[in-house]
Amino acid sequence: MTSAKSVTVRSATEQDRPAIVGLQETGFGMRYGADEQGLQHELWPVERALVAVDNGRVVGHTTDITMTVTVPGQRTVRAAGVSGVAVSPTHRRRGILRELYTAQHARTEADGLPLTIFTASEATIYGRFGYDPTILDTAIAIDRRRAEFRPTTPDPGGVELASLAEAAPHIREVYDRWQRQVPGAQARPEEKWALVFADVERHRAAATSLFVLVHPDGYALYRRRYADNRSVVAVSELRAATPEAHPALWRVLLGMDLVDTIEAEIADDDPLPYLLTDSRAARVIRRGDSLWARVMDVPAALTARTYRHDVDTVVAVHDPFRSAGGRFALRVRDGVAECEPTTRPADLAFDINVLGALYFGAHRAGRLAAAHRISVEDTAALRAVDEAFTTDRAPELGWFF
Ligand SMILES: CC(C)(COP(=O)(O)OP(=O)(O)OC[C@H]1O[C@@H](n2cnc3c(N)ncnc32)[C@H](O)[C@@H]1OP(=O)(O)O)[C@@H](O)C(=O)NCCC(=O)NCCS
Repeated sequence: MTSAKSVTVRSATEQDRPAIVGLQETGFGMRYGADEQGLQHELWPVERALVAVDNGRVVGHTTDITMTVTVPGQRTVRAAGVSGVAVSPTHRRRGILRELYTAQHARTEADGLPLTIFTASEATIYGRFGYDPTILDTAIAIDRRRAEFRPTTPDPGGVELASLAEAAPHIREVYDRWQRQVPGAQARPEEKWALVFADVERHRAAATSLFVLVHPDGYALYRRRYADNRSVVAVSELRAATPEAHPALWRVLLGMDLVDTIEAEIADDDPLPYLLTDSRAARVIRRGDSLWARVMDVPAALTARTYRHDVDTVVAVHDPFRSAGGRFALRVRDGVAECEPTTRPADLAFDINVLGALYFGAHRAGRLAAAHRISVEDTAALRAVDEAFTTDRAPELGWFF
């Protein structure tokens, strides 16, 4: 058996590509199709990858790209978006992920990025590295035959069918408008758009290629599949950049003949269930987290977003993985924050994970305190922080990675 000590971590080269692909296919239990591999390589440049090597063999991998993410206040923050983390099943639980993450996070710190984000395969791995779930998602299944709109639901129309190729420029334009409004949503790089429009075989699972609905301020991408004698519309992405586009697109989706069920993922503040006369027609089939975050630089991250309440407090942040913790004075006036190290005593104390949880507004400080994740010296400070981190709009993941 090999210990982590015999394993070295280094930057990857083009020659490592086949081993990295093999490692990810083994780790995630899938095969990349020939239509996808080149596009994935464009999105995740090999120069950004780190590999763990044992005796000349690649046995671990992680990579990241810098993403631009909308934060509360319709501002942006630059974040390291981590992906493709896998360790060979022959080398698990010997500290290889820890070695890879130590090197990767040192690089993120050196790059001066205030935040690190990813989508997690399991919820039990990343807390130790200072991460917490930061965006929640809800998958619903709508029984189409029970779904009737309330008489108050607008019927703005304006939706057309389109092919993916002809709708591509419109989809990009609407996504960009939507993304700038929504906390947590990332700008989509050119290479990711190429993957979306290639509509690769692996993403179809047992469903059709993408169908497209367009509205001047929105679009819906969906697939059709038949399972257990039921006909399903699986919405893979619906973006409405204005309040009018939302009911317009849903009226077409819920009006489709020969469809039993519509599946979609919705944000916590999506008005859809309230548009229907039968509130049970939309059933929650999965509640989960879509994005995890770790604050890398407390003052830089906390001053990047805006707030809904004035705050004047000192927080003690504990960071056992890196050394981003310390005591910080946080002062918010009219939404704008100042944050700097201080020696004053702390009103609130917590692990750095808590800042990741609070960052986009999905979780409330009061609830985390009730769960003993925040130690409270001053309840007024907790109330102010609780109010301040909430957002007008629920955060949403822009695109999965
Ligand atoms: C998850 C994975 C990368 C872990 O790699 P690894 O080299 O075995 O992890 P390490 O030995 O470095 O473990 C680091 C720490 O995480 C813990 N850990 C690792 N995997 C864990 C898991 N699946 N569940 C809970 N804890 C886990 C270890 O116990 C260790 O804890 P400690 O350092 O606090 O004592 C690896 O199991 C894997 O490739 N899994 C399949 C693909 C996958 O899920 N990738 C993650 C994508 S987000």
